[in-house]
Formats: sequence, C-alpha cells, structure tokens
Amino acid sequence: MNILLTGGAGYIGSHTAVVLTEAGHNVIILDNFCNSDRSVLERLKQILQKDLICIEGDVRNTDLLTQALQEHKIDAVIHFAGLKAVGESVTMPVEYYANNVQGTISLLEAMKVSNIKNLVFSSSATVYGDPQYLPIDENHPTSATNAYGRSKLHIEEMLKDVANSDPAWKIICLRYFNPVGAHESGFIGEDPNGIPNNLVPYIAQVAVGKLPKLNVYGNDYPTLDGTGVRDYIHVMDLAEGHLAALNYVADHSGWIAINLGTGKGYSVLEMIEAFEGASGNKIPFNIVTRRVGDIASCYSTAEKASQLLSWQAKRSIQDMCSSGYKWQNYRSTLA
Ligand code: NAD
Ligand code: UD1
Repeated sequence: MNILLTGGAGYIGSHTAVVLTEAGHNVIILDNFCNSDRSVLERLKQILQKDLICIEGDVRNTDLLTQALQEHKIDAVIHFAGLKAVGESVTMPVEYYANNVQGTISLLEAMKVSNIKNLVFSSSATVYGDPQYLPIDENHPTSATNAYGRSKLHIEEMLKDVANSDPAWKIICLRYFNPVGAHESGFIGEDPNGIPNNLVPYIAQVAVGKLPKLNVYGNDYPTLDGTGVRDYIHVMDLAEGHLAALNYVADHSGWIAINLGTGKGYSVLEMIEAFEGASGNKIPFNIVTRRVGDIASCYSTAEKASQLLSWQAKRSIQDMCSSGYKWQNYRSTLA
C-alpha cells in the first residue's frame, strides 16, 4: 500500500516509517519540521538503505495535501502531525487547536475530495482524564483537563461524525499510553527541545551526563513505592501496532478507538532502576513535591488490540531503557 504519514519525521512517525517500509509498504512523509529535524531522513536511510519520499509542508495546506494524496496514489493515511506538549497547550490553546483540530479538518477535506477514506489517527490515553478505574479499557469515560487533551477529544468526536456520514470511511483512533525507547540501531529516537518534560527522556539525559539529576515528583502516591505508575510502551511495539491497525482498517468501515499499551504499569523508581541496569550508570535523583495535575497510576487493558488487531506489545522495560540509552548516546554525537 502507499501510505501517507503526516508528521512522519517525528518520534513515533519515524519509527512507524521503518516498520511499514520493512513490511513492504511504500511510505510518504509529510512534515513541516516544527518539532523534528531534517536529518532524520538521512538516519532513516541508514536504517532502511533507501530514500523515503518526504514532502515538506503543513497539514493545514489542503491543496498541498490533496496534491500529495493524488500524486502518490495514497491508499491510507496515518495522521501523527500535531503539537503535543501539555504545559505549552495551556498557555497557547489557540495554536494547539489551530494545529491539531484545523490540521485534521484540512486532512479530511483533502482525503474527501481525493476519495481516500482509510485513516489511522494518533490519539492518546490523555482522553481518559483522571482514571476512574484501572486498568483503563476503551469504554472508560473520556474527558480532558488541558487544551492538548481537549484537542484530541474534539478530533475523536469529529472523526466519529465523519465515519457516520459515509460508510466508505474507515477510521481508527489509537490511544497511545506512554511511548518510550528507540529503534534498536540507536539512529532515531525521541528528541525533545530543551529540558524534557517526560520521565524517560529526562532519565536518558541524566544517564549520559547531559543533566545532573532527576527530580522525582512525589513519593506519597498510593502506589507500591509511592511514586507515579505508568504504562510505558516501546515505540517499536507502538509502530508495529500501526501496521496492525492499517490491516484492520482496510476492511472495517466506521469508527473505532483502541488502546495501545502493555497492560502493565511501572513506577518512577522501577524505571530508574531499569535504566541504571541498561546503562550501567547511576541515576542520581531527588524526591520533590508532586507535579501539579499528575495522577497516581495509569495503565491500560490491551485486550481490544489483542482481539481485533492481533497485536500485543512484546518488548520489556529493559529493551525500552537500553534502546533509549543507545539513542541518547548517539544523539550526543549529533550537532
Ligand atoms: P513529534 O512532535 O515527535 O512528531 C510530530 C511531528 O509532526 C513532528 O515531526 C512535527 O514537525 C510534525 N508536525 C506538527 N505539526 C505539523 C503540521 N501542522 N504540519 C505538518 N507537520 C506537523 O510527536 P510524537 O511523539 O511522534 O507524536 C505523534 C503523535 O502522537 C502526535 O499527534 C501526539 O499528540 C500523539 N501522541 C504522542 C504521545 C507521546 O508521548 N509521544 C502520546 C500520545 C499521543
Ligand atoms: C505525559 C503527558 C500526557 C501524555 C503522556 C504520554 C504531562 C503533564 N502529561 O504524562 O498528556 O499523554 O505523557 O506520554 O506532560 N516524572 C518525574 N520526574 C520527571 C518527569 C516525570 O518524577 O522529571 C514522573 C511523573 O510524575 C509521572 C511519571 O514520571 O509519575 C511519568 O511522567 P511523564 O513521562 O511526564 O508522563 P505522564 O505523566 O504519563
């Protein structure tokens, strides 16, 4: 199949590009590089031993998208492009709605006029808000506490309406839990701007000596060791989940939401220990007060994905930490 990856130069998109290409699909990336670097294309080439087609542009440019869809005879789209920093979304809600919601409307317009109606959308576990029960299944009520989460919820609702309007649409919303780790080559990985907000990129930078110490946000949660628990999923497992979703979407019309997680949570202290094991380096940390807005525990049930997509995460937290460490070391050698 010819598959368009909007935001395909980013963290999850680039790993998915590898998995899809290796599965024999023809991948076309469309990205405006607002949160990625053009050098990722060269690094993808090192992994795949071939050039991927990349169109530089914004998903809000409907004409450009329409041209890309038609010229490359696209069969399905995976829509990764969007802004994703929770804190930033609170101070820049207009930019978040414009990019995420308006970007999706533009994509839907281009797909509609091009009669391409197979779509996989990058949603997030953030649409579940504060968990009312664990593990979280897809029937858990949805809500949002910030503009980022609300943009994902709005898009999901919009996609439901679109699917209801015409049975030709085949739409799947993948609700990712906490993607971490990197491709085993270490050539691609998560590359946040500035100081990382998220745990694993932060630990990785401490492990290579780029940052001195980790702050652990609270050890008084009602969890096994008092620190926050999350469902970390290896980005390569997540990428393979997209391949499975594409196969599913090819012959299921309508709208569906599916969790992509492992079904198991790990605490902050467990992640530190795993990273120390993978890197052989000590991760110094301080326990500090809780981060505002954080929840104690969040993990998924992965049953729907297993039943409908015949997919489940295979890689361990050791794999997540060792690949993340390998990438962080390689990243330190880049400009
Ligand atoms: P990322 O920032 O690494 O990748 C997003 C890519 O989209 C970047 O390359 C960026 O340049 C591009 N982009 C952004 N706006 C664009 C626009 N208007 N036009 C064209 N390109 C644009 O993020 P990621 O971690 O790879 O996330 C991909 C998707 O998955 C996002 O939609 C994100 O909200 C969602 N998601 C991510 C996580 C996570 O923890 N990484 C969790 C849940 C959901
Ligand atoms: C974050 C996002 C969430 C997104 C998810 C996906 C925020 C507020 N939320 O949530 O919307 O869906 O990533 O990956 O950004 N921690 C520390 N020290 C740190 C960083 C984090 O102790 O320096 C702890 C946190 O308190 C939490 C755990 O590590 O218990 C994981 O944090 P993080 O990686 O930011 O992920 P989420 O909180 O799940």
